[in-house]
Amino acid sequence: KYARGYFMPPEPSLNWTRKEYIEEAPAWCSVDLRDGNQALIVPMSLEEKLEFFQMLVRLGFKEIEVGFPAASETEFAFLRALIEQNLIPDDVTIQVLTQSREHIIAKTFESLQGVKNAVVHLYNSTSVAQREQVFRKSKEEIVDIAVTGAKLLKEHAKEIEGNIQFEYSPESFTGTEIEFALEICNRVLDVWQPTPDHKVIVNLPATVSMSMPHVYASQIEYMSNHLKYRDSVILSVHPHNDRGTGIADAEFGVLAGAQRVEGTLFGNGERTGNVDIVTLALNLYSHGVDPKLNLENLPEIQAAYERLTRMRVGERHPYAGELVFTAFSGSHQDAIAKGLNWREGKDNLIWSVPYLPIDPKDIGREYEGDIIRINSQSGKGGIGYLLQQKYGFDLPPKMRENFGYCVKSVSDRLHKEISSEEIYDIFVEEYVNI
Ligand code: KIV
Ligand code: ZN
Repeated sequence: KYARGYFMPPEPSLNWTRKEYIEEAPAWCSVDLRDGNQALIVPMSLEEKLEFFQMLVRLGFKEIEVGFPAASETEFAFLRALIEQNLIPDDVTIQVLTQSREHIIAKTFESLQGVKNAVVHLYNSTSVAQREQVFRKSKEEIVDIAVTGAKLLKEHAKEIEGNIQFEYSPESFTGTEIEFALEICNRVLDVWQPTPDHKVIVNLPATVSMSMPHVYASQIEYMSNHLKYRDSVILSVHPHNDRGTGIADAEFGVLAGAQRVEGTLFGNGERTGNVDIVTLALNLYSHGVDPKLNLENLPEIQAAYERLTRMRVGERHPYAGELVFTAFSGSHQDAIAKGLNWREGKDNLIWSVPYLPIDPKDIGREYEGDIIRINSQSGKGGIGYLLQQKYGFDLPPKMRENFGYCVKSVSDRLHKEISSEEIYDIFVEEYVNI
């Protein structure tokens, strides 16, 4: 009944596996204000989009897809506000999405008057399912939609004084025969005739992810190896997370030749979301690679994201979740406490504290309380560490053990987490008020 990740390249090759690590950050393009916003229960207001845009600029995004200006008045007005109020820094390129229809393209370019740097992102759907069920068009008719749009973009770009770059996405790429995806991208490239000085972007979306990540990576590699004008093309990936593999798709896609990643903060976006750029960036960081984004205050970014999108970041979300720098179990707490003590004064060493993938301080999170949390699963190490860090009580080993049992049994009896203040009270009760 269900298709596997079909459309493998004709000569499947796994050359990409020869590269074990990503050595430098890809170009990031935030699609929060377009793909993310279009998937919200209540899309952001113009003011909210402005605030979100300014946050993305502060975080260091140099490419930001700001919307689909021909799609709604708010989208159009938002772009006009950005341009007319001079809110786009010179080193930031905004991106707008358009379908391949004359009046939509005309309206898109109208919205761009006065812009300094913009990417106009043309897309049309190419998959077997969309061709047969939605558009009822032949392959040649689908190519014609793309080529006509590409020509219109080239014509309309002359109306704008600023610097206009083009992007093409064969939407539903992952459900498209790979040879046909290659053909349609090459036909668009033939219209745009990119050069190394005027590159264009070819974006290969996993609009719906359909395969395991290595299959997507093989598709990216095939495109990377066979696209025309390759030196003049920036190859981009745009994974969604339907199979829960958005991160792996993006990472493998980059190993396979992609130079750019489109995604969102915390993975907002259609259905299961777009790929989460925060996780991708911090994965790079954990390998010692500069992610080229400022994520030093993740809790603040998360709070703004939650307020503006009305979405929640889950407790176990990588790096950001409330519980991810926390340990309840005794052996974990003990190892973390020992690791942190061992590390004191050794900041020049590679981070290697057990159970903590990165130093939480680097993203504005705290050790204390944030890491060691106490319940009936906890151990004497964690309880002793908390007492020492918070109140300066360095208990001798036997006393630490006894006190550990005492706190655990209180938590077990009350069936709840015990705060550091309560630990202090129990300590006073046990050893002082006698
Ligand atoms: O997921 C997708 O295919 C898209 C395209 C418009 C790029 O968002
Ligand atoms: Zn998308």
